[in-house]
This record gives sequence, structure tokens and C-alpha cells, in this order.
Amino acid sequence: MASTTTGKIAEFRRLLSRAHSVLVLTGAGISAESGVPTFRGAGGLWRQFRVTDLATPAAFSRSPSLVWEFYHYRRELVRTKQPNKAHIAIAQAEAKFEKQGKRFNVITQNVDGLHRRAGTKNLIEMHGNLFMTRCTSCGFTEENNSSPICESLRNRGSPAENGPDINEKDLPCCRKCKSLVRPHIVWFGEQIWDDVLEKIEKEIQLCDLFLVVGTSSVVYPAAGYASILSQKNIPIAEVNIETTPSTSIATYHFHGPAAQLLPQLLSSNIDDE
Ligand code: OAD
Ligand code: ZN
Repeated sequence: MASTTTGKIAEFRRLLSRAHSVLVLTGAGISAESGVPTFRGAGGLWRQFRVTDLATPAAFSRSPSLVWEFYHYRRELVRTKQPNKAHIAIAQAEAKFEKQGKRFNVITQNVDGLHRRAGTKNLIEMHGNLFMTRCTSCGFTEENNSSPICESLRNRGSPAENGPDINEKDLPCCRKCKSLVRPHIVWFGEQIWDDVLEKIEKEIQLCDLFLVVGTSSVVYPAAGYASILSQKNIPIAEVNIETTPSTSIATYHFHGPAAQLLPQLLSSNIDDE
């Protein structure tokens, strides 16, 4: 690795050791090395559909069967994947900060649950979670880890077309009122939940070091956090394999895969200078 990058890593580590309230924002890139496809890369298609066209309320009302097949596919895929060194480095850094009585919070746009599985506790899943459902009628929301989530989805959801539409009455339904449930995920065209926005606003206010990992920084509101913090002169570090709209305002841009860089940036095994 170039010495300039090594120097910058050491500089970031010094900042980190002095920080009192670290905020980490992650996107699909942090899970890429776990084998979960990103949205805007080559893996962003399922059957002939763009993922961004399936993750919408319109797609669900047109065909709940199709959208459930897609989410069933993603649930089953993620189940076979493990948190990688980047998720683990973040969870370990959080534990270290907590021990020192300092703040360390993670906002993720990912719905794969890999941060949870890595042990991150101060976690805001701003777009929801694949393993949560919400009733379309009474709003009842709960964790659901069943595999398959319902019998009619068993062996369905293959990226190759595999069967006729499933009747709505055979799709996942609410334990309380028996109506159709949907993934508890914020879809395109929907607002982030108010309680989640409030938590994020609080962390943005308190943050004195911001780390942005593996997000293309094009989907709002997350894409706007770096510029809010940069206006407050809060140092920002970005980890990505490409440049993004956040790169130009970041104090540091660490170019490379998250699973390789985050242990170097966050691990307490390297002596703090
Ligand atoms: P994207 O797929 O838009 O961007 C992934 C980013 O990760 C890109 O900038 C890649 O360069 C980067 N990347 C890929 N592999 C990486 C690696 N190994 N290490 C570091 N970086 C890597 O995903 P998001 O930015 O998360 O919303 O997308 C934001 C939101 O748009 C998603 O949460 C989702 C989506 O459509 C909803 O579902 C509501
Ligand atoms: Zn219900």
C-alpha cells in the first residue's frame, strides 16, 4: 500500500482515538465481500427487473407475489452469508468505545442484518430489515426468521422464472388480523420512519467523526449527511472502491475494499500513535 495511504490511516487513527462521538454510515458495499450483491453494481438485477423497480409500493400493489418472491430470495441468500471483517471491525470498535464511555453509533442503509449478526448494538437500520414484517392492514410489526417465510414460497424466488403467481391468501399473513404482511423495509417513494429520523438527527448533532463506508451516496437522506457534517467542519472519512459524490467533501478517501481497510482503520490491535 502506498506510504501516503499508510500515513493517512495513521492520521485517521489519531483522530479516532481523540473522538468522543463516532458515527458510521454504511451501504451495500460493506456487505459485498460477504457475497451480498450491491444495488447499483452488476448484481443489481433479479430476473429482468432492476432491484430499484421491485423495492416500491407500486410493485407490491401490482404483484405482491412477485415482490415476496424477490424478498424471499434475498432472505434465503443472506441467511447463507456471514458478516465480514468490516462488520466485525465496526462491532469491535463500538465495544471499545463503549468501555471508554464514548459514543459510537452505526447507521446502515442495508437491510441484510449483518451488522446485528456481527454484534453491533448501537445500530440504526434506516431502511428496515429483511427479517422484519409489517401488516398492510393493522401495522403489526415483528421479527420473522422463518425459512421459508411461508409454505407457498418454498423453492420459489429463483432468479430464473419459476412458477405462476401465488394467491394473496397464501402469502405471508399477519398473526393478529390475517391480512397480507410486507417486508418492513423503506421502499422507494416512501418516507423514512419518524422515530428513525429523530435518532439519526440526534447522532448527527453529537457526531465529531464521521465514517462513510460502501455507499454510492446517491440515495437521500443518507447521501446528505456528509455535506451537513462537512459544513460543521466535522472530519469525514470515506471508504469505497470508487469515488462518489461524497468523495470531494471527505477529509480522507480510503480507496479499497471495506473488509481490508476497516480493520486497519478501526482495529485496536495496532498501537495508537
Ligand atoms: P449501492 O449499490 O448504490 O452502492 C454500493 C457502493 O459500495 C458503491 O459506491 C460501490 O463502489 C461500493 N462498494 C462495492 N464493493 C465495495 C467494497 N468491497 N468495499 C467498499 N465499497 C464497496 O448501495 P447503497 O449506497 O447502499 O435502498 O444504496 C443506497 C440505497 O439504495 C439502498 O439502501 C437501497 C438502494 O436502492 C432501499 O432499498 C430503500
Ligand atoms: Zn394485521
